[in-house]
Amino acid sequence: MNISSLSKKSKSKLQKAKDLRALESSYTDLLGKNGEINLLLKSLGKLPQEKRKNSGKALNELKSSLEAIFQSRRNHLKEKIFSEELKRDSLDVTLPGRTRESGTLHPVTSTIIEISNFFVSMGFDIRSGPEAESEYYNFEALNIPEDHPAKDMHDTFYLDNGVLLRTHTSPVQIRTMEKQDPPIRIISPGRVYRKDSDLTHTPMFHMIEGLVLEENASFSVLKGMLKDFINDFFGNQTELRFRPSYFPFTEPSAEVDIKWKKGWLEILGCGMVHPNVLEMSGINSKKYSGFAFGLGPERMAMLKYNIPDLRSFFENDLRFLKQFK
Ligand code: DAH
Repeated sequence: MNISSLSKKSKSKLQKAKDLRALESSYTDLLGKNGEINLLLKSLGKLPQEKRKNSGKALNELKSSLEAIFQSRRNHLKEKIFSEELKRDSLDVTLPGRTRESGTLHPVTSTIIEISNFFVSMGFDIRSGPEAESEYYNFEALNIPEDHPAKDMHDTFYLDNGVLLRTHTSPVQIRTMEKQDPPIRIISPGRVYRKDSDLTHTPMFHMIEGLVLEENASFSVLKGMLKDFINDFFGNQTELRFRPSYFPFTEPSAEVDIKWKKGWLEILGCGMVHPNVLEMSGINSKKYSGFAFGLGPERMAMLKYNIPDLRSFFENDLRFLKQFK
């Protein structure tokens, strides 16, 4: 028996086992109950006395160094498997997470909310009225009789039976005065419709109507209130002017312009509610006076956010809308 060649061969067999299975099976072949080494140990009895002792010692030494090689190879292979698993199953914590996109208020909606909040803080209630409105509330009750030229200016969409799409939110003034006794302080934001479409006109847009009706409503209170509002919305430095104007439902009437870049830009209409309007709605015009104003939130938002084309509000292009997050 050549122990040194057996030792070489069996050590390399264990050291080269490429995985745990191969290692275990080489172990069984060498060190198992019926393995090569044990069979040799069992056959020692057949050797002559003087050889038996040395061979036995050498075989036992080989056996324990093979055990040690087996253990260290096994640890090595197990670590390899573990680190491969780690690599395969690990999380890349630097990857961006899966986010859920959140929506945002439409810029017209948030402008309406901003304007409404200002007037609510001044004690106004919010009212609404129908978008399909009668001729009476949209025109007659606002002192715009049949044949009045102002009626043509409104480019009205007519439905059947004297019903039309309201051209302004002023009819809500009338509906409120019919139902509610003074004092009244309301604003009414909502959709309005006109046959018109270009860079600064869309067939549907929004208006906010304001009405104050009390015993001593005056033009100076109206002026102060609108000045505060404009400074709140556009900033304290905003220059504004009241310019005499004409609306059938107010007397006197004015338009408010703000200084914008180099010129003056009209942003709203206002005035003292015409006594005819008050009387038609059952209000005693000797006792009560009122002032009213009307403005367009799209126009306000265009100025504030520098938006050149009114139509972009209604095209629902997400790239446009996301800028107002
Ligand atoms: N209704 C007017 C329009 O459609 C806006 C307006 C002007 C409303 C003056 C008012 C007002 O209440 O006093 O352009």
